[in-house]
Amino acid sequence: MKNSTIISNENLSSDDDFSVDTDHYIKDWVIPFYHVKLGDWERKKNALLKIWEHNSKDNMISGDLHDQSTDYGNCNNYHSLIENVLYEDITDGLHALNLGETITVDTAWFQIYDNSRYHPPHNHGLGHLSLVVFIEFDEDHLPTTFIAPFISLRDGNVMEYIPKGVTEGSMVLFPSGIMHYAPVNQIESKRMILAANLTIDEGSRC
Ligand SMILES: [Fe+2]
Repeated sequence: MKNSTIISNENLSSDDDFSVDTDHYIKDWVIPFYHVKLGDWERKKNALLKIWEHNSKDNMISGDLHDQSTDYGNCNNYHSLIENVLYEDITDGLHALNLGETITVDTAWFQIYDNSRYHPPHNHGLGHLSLVVFIEFDEDHLPTTFIAPFISLRDGNVMEYIPKGVTEGSMVLFPSGIMHYAPVNQIESKRMILAANLTIDEGSRC
């Protein structure tokens, strides 16, 4: 089985204009962010698409205007199936972030972005971690873009973070409460993602 590949933290910028000495920063408030290329991707992709086919496809609803197509809010009950496919990878991420031992996938949903479709800024509410897996993603697609919870001290602008090196098979873990959006899909081929909310378990799982 091919191993997953952790993508290095691009926030550790070597650009002097952006790197800062953090000796006097509040280190408890750093933002957890984990990007991995899922190993054994073809098998996992087929498994995820099968879950979509059998549990989600018929419930996909396109929003008005340019909203994406999603089955979010349709009382999805396939989160345990998603957990079966991704549990090891999610747990590896949890351990890398040093946030706990075990985790539960509470809710999951799929989203499809045809040409001109997007998802405006939003968050996933109070919670622990969320994830996005890029299931169909061309090199000309733009990844989920994250918005800093505070404005720039340098110029007062909103600060965004666009994860580097996102490809099909990338999985990103991030805090559920952080604002993010999917930029407009500007090409003909569809972009498809899996999203999920995760709860970090108290104690160990039996
Ligand atoms: Fe989201």
